[in-house]
Amino acid sequence: MNNHDVDAAWQYHNSTKHSSQSVHSSRHYLDWRNEPLLFKIYPKLDAIPLPRRVPQTGIAALSAISTIPGEAESASVPDLNALALLLHLSGGVTKQKRFAGGETFFFRAAACTGALYEFELYLVCGNLPGLDAGVYHFGVKDFGLRRLHQGDFRGVLADATGNEPAIVHAPLVMVCAGTYWRNAWKYQARTYRHFGWDNGTIVANLLAMCAALHLPAKVVMGFVDDEVNRLLDLDTQREVAFSMIAVGWTPEPAPPASEVQPLGLETVPLSRKEVDYPAIREMHAASSLVSADEVRTWRGRTPVKPVPAASGRIARLEPLGDREIRLDGAEQVILRRGSTRQFAREPITLQQLATLLDRATRGVPADFLDPAGTQLNDLYLIVNAVEGLSPGAYFFRREEGSLELLKEGDFREQASYLGLEQELPGDASVAVFFLADLRPILERFGNRGYRAVQLEAGILGGKLYLGAYAQHLGATGLTFFDDDVINFFSPHAAGKSAIFLTAVGKSARRIAFLSPNRGTALRQKVRCKWSWMPGTES
Ligand SMILES: Cc1cc2nc3c(=O)[nH]c(=O)nc-3n(C[C@H](O)[C@H](O)[C@H](O)COP(=O)(O)O)c2cc1C
Repeated sequence: MNNHDVDAAWQYHNSTKHSSQSVHSSRHYLDWRNEPLLFKIYPKLDAIPLPRRVPQTGIAALSAISTIPGEAESASVPDLNALALLLHLSGGVTKQKRFAGGETFFFRAAACTGALYEFELYLVCGNLPGLDAGVYHFGVKDFGLRRLHQGDFRGVLADATGNEPAIVHAPLVMVCAGTYWRNAWKYQARTYRHFGWDNGTIVANLLAMCAALHLPAKVVMGFVDDEVNRLLDLDTQREVAFSMIAVGWTPEPAPPASEVQPLGLETVPLSRKEVDYPAIREMHAASSLVSADEVRTWRGRTPVKPVPAASGRIARLEPLGDREIRLDGAEQVILRRGSTRQFAREPITLQQLATLLDRATRGVPADFLDPAGTQLNDLYLIVNAVEGLSPGAYFFRREEGSLELLKEGDFREQASYLGLEQELPGDASVAVFFLADLRPILERFGNRGYRAVQLEAGILGGKLYLGAYAQHLGATGLTFFDDDVINFFSPHAAGKSAIFLTAVGKSARRIAFLSPNRGTALRQKVRCKWSWMPGTES
């Protein structure tokens, strides 16, 4: 497989598009008796407990999401408390809900398609205050670490990333790995797109918390896949590393790579049987990098596309400055985040929208975004109810901080339709669509660019979630009818592809979460959310 044979990415993208026809003719149903376990469990490894009471950072969420946690000038090393905070508020359990029948469901810090939580977090670190050098798995359920390798293995990552400077000097690297079956049980081959989104929301939280802890951070997608997967002892037919985040900075580079011995560690099976979706594995293989040289030529030099001159009416955005924003703390906002299950059809203010867009899109530190601040995705909006802004379709002119009106009108019904015939984007105040021109991205980055564009959309979507909740609004990620979205925003969007969708507005809070006789229904909604898909609910 060759990363630059981009027919693979086009084939995967086109074959996993949703359309009204594909969704309504789907015969897929959820086999609840074969529902996957939501946690990776190593039955024979003891857990090292993580501290549960750690000091708060005192940093406002709106500052945290908009600060780019860049490079440090002096050593900046997370201790065990900082590590616990990072893990809890990115991949950890933040809410538990008991449903009728006594079942408890564990919701996590970051939103995830179908609440299936297919991402595992691993740590590769040198000696940290309170934690010995090693390779660890984060056990979400018992909030503990399990050591897979003892000793400093950061050199393996330095080699695998072609000596990416942020990795070479990071005291800690968090590696995010996705488990196919846990998500494919419900979403089949489309799971590989979900990898980018669901990993992205986790990364958005991680970046915000690194900023709040004053730790440098960088997202790294360029690495030799086999070397990283081997270090984590992954069964690559089922689980693969997708991204890594370099956290902190030390003047001493990582030591030379230690030899990695296979571990063959036992893990608890996720289901009685797993269904293989070859399209997912093929897309992963086609976007894999095989040598450090290939990685070095892969990263950086993001294709920058000129934004066409505006032809529609312009609405200038006036976001709140640092002295005016709400000061709700980063931790507090992440803990209260949840996906809005129902929006009130009420307006938000133009300033709230401006602040949200401004704070969420100031830039992501990543090896595929060069120069800093570059973005692969463009934001297109359906504005349903924003005070001071005519309802209609808009293009976000990020550089200029303005919205360009593409067409005026009440598009609530179309927003609902485009969001897979769900009420949420029609009831929300605004539906934010992420669209990207895949052609230059794939030309520059090969199939791996497809991973990057999906991850970036998830990160931006995750920032929108936090920016909304920081302003006491609600938000939810959504999926969509691919080509209908492009047609709706065309001619402006012609040639682009639909990547992700987030809706923002005021939550209706009409669903009584804890009412005993609503529990089962809600659980069905959480796990089987898409009533549009005939025959999915058994
Ligand atoms: C990428 C993404 C896509 C999602 N798509 C939908 C969707 O189409 N419909 C929906 O009702 N919820 C959707 N959600 C919300 C998830 O169902 C929700 O995140 C999950 O149930 C966990 O709940 P929580 O976000 O409240 O913690 C999506 C979330 C993400 C991150």
